[in-house]
Amino acid sequence: MNAKTKLVTDRIRLRCMEDRDQANLFGQLFNDPDVMKYYSGLKDKRQTCEWVNWNQRNEKGYGVSLWIAEDKRTGEFLGQCGIVPQQIENQTVMEIGYMFARRHWGNGYAQEAARACLDYGFNERQFGKMAALIDPGNKASIRVAEKIGMHHSKTIRKWNKQIAVYERKSYN
Ligand SMILES: CC(C)(COP(=O)(O)OP(=O)(O)OC[C@H]1O[C@@H](n2cnc3c(N)ncnc32)[C@H](O)[C@@H]1OP(=O)(O)O)[C@@H](O)C(=O)NCCC(=O)NCCS
Repeated sequence: MNAKTKLVTDRIRLRCMEDRDQANLFGQLFNDPDVMKYYSGLKDKRQTCEWVNWNQRNEKGYGVSLWIAEDKRTGEFLGQCGIVPQQIENQTVMEIGYMFARRHWGNGYAQEAARACLDYGFNERQFGKMAALIDPGNKASIRVAEKIGMHHSKTIRKWNKQIAVYERKSYN
């Protein structure tokens, strides 16, 4: 099986989601309360299947989605990172999303993968700006956004809670 590679960094391959990824997404991300702390709850297997379908639709429609992050040497599952079209105050904004398995936190993977997404969005896709939508208490995520040069622009109400919007304008 030759999964579609989107981006490659020093340590990580980002590739399109496939149906077979449901087991790792569920077992290592969506069923872990630590990973899901800032989301509305865990996702069950049915919701994990819908998640993969939704990302596959985004990939077809927009050419971006959350991609599977894996160790480029061994193929080990690390998490997901990619680009998601989001509605912010009636505008579609490209968001960089990242989520890694608990045992891989603190190794710099999120900033490495997010940086590659930022470069892709600005250099290959000419997006005018990119954003990260973050629960204001999620310090790790805020740090990742700051590490890739994003700044807090506003706080909005979304998903029934306060969400901090971090943004960065294109390199041009
Ligand atoms: C957010 C997340 C992706 C970060 O992944 P990671 O691979 O551990 O992040 P990195 O190792 O690249 O660390 C990036 C920076 O954040 C810092 N950081 C990591 N965890 C932190 C924490 N709990 N509090 C404060 N800073 C933290 C790191 O020290 C690093 O900064 P530094 O280079 O200045 O030291 C990971 O915690 C995660 O998957 N969380 C659950 C899902 C989630 O909340 N995603 C974000 C949704 S908006």
